Amino acid sequence: MSLLVRKLAPSELDWANSKYKEIDFLPSPDSDFVAVAEIHGIAAGLGRVTKVAPGVGELGGMYVFPEHRGTGISKSLIQFLIAESALEILYCLPFEHLYSLYESAGFRVCQPGTLVPPRVLDKQTWCNAHYSKSVLLMCRASGSNVI
Ligand SMILES: CC(C)(COP(=O)(O)OP(=O)(O)OC[C@H]1O[C@@H](n2cnc3c(N)ncnc32)[C@H](O)[C@@H]1OP(=O)(O)O)[C@@H](O)C(=O)NCCC(=O)NCCS
Repeated sequence: MSLLVRKLAPSELDWANSKYKEIDFLPSPDSDFVAVAEIHGIAAGLGRVTKVAPGVGELGGMYVFPEHRGTGISKSLIQFLIAESALEILYCLPFEHLYSLYESAGFRVCQPGTLVPPRVLDKQTWCNAHYSKSVLLMCRASGSNVI
């Protein structure tokens, strides 16, 4: 399998948002760092990081198109986004059943009392009200950063 993960070009944002609409995910603004996975040059999945504060982002928007699932594409997208967004602290709001996927990339469930940017907390509240599946709050710090 020839898998390439790259940064989405600005001219591709409308297309990416049309894909997100298919699964009822919020559109990305221009300011998001969006990644696209391609197999043999064919788009196979998307992911994104939204900056929420200096050095802090929310990783999400993980969408692997149905015909390409089960071959590790989401793991590659997550690794690319962690490396290329170069933010010290990342939060994510995964559906509960995907806990292990994010844990394997170094995310941990935020402990009660952890200081979390209000924007991330608001999004978690919105997701839990909007989707039928419950959404976790997880975080990941790079290097010696502690949350
Ligand atoms: C969830 C999704 C991104 C997974 O993409 P994928 O490329 O098929 O996932 P991968 O092949 O990289 O699998 C990575 C790991 O996640 C696990 N996983 C994938 N889908 C899963 C599911 N539905 N339930 C539980 N675990 C799942 C796999 O078992 C795998 O773990 P392993 O390596 O220990 O075997 C994809 O199914 C999708 O786009 N779903 C619709 C949108 C969505 O729910 N996005 C996630 C928002 S949090």
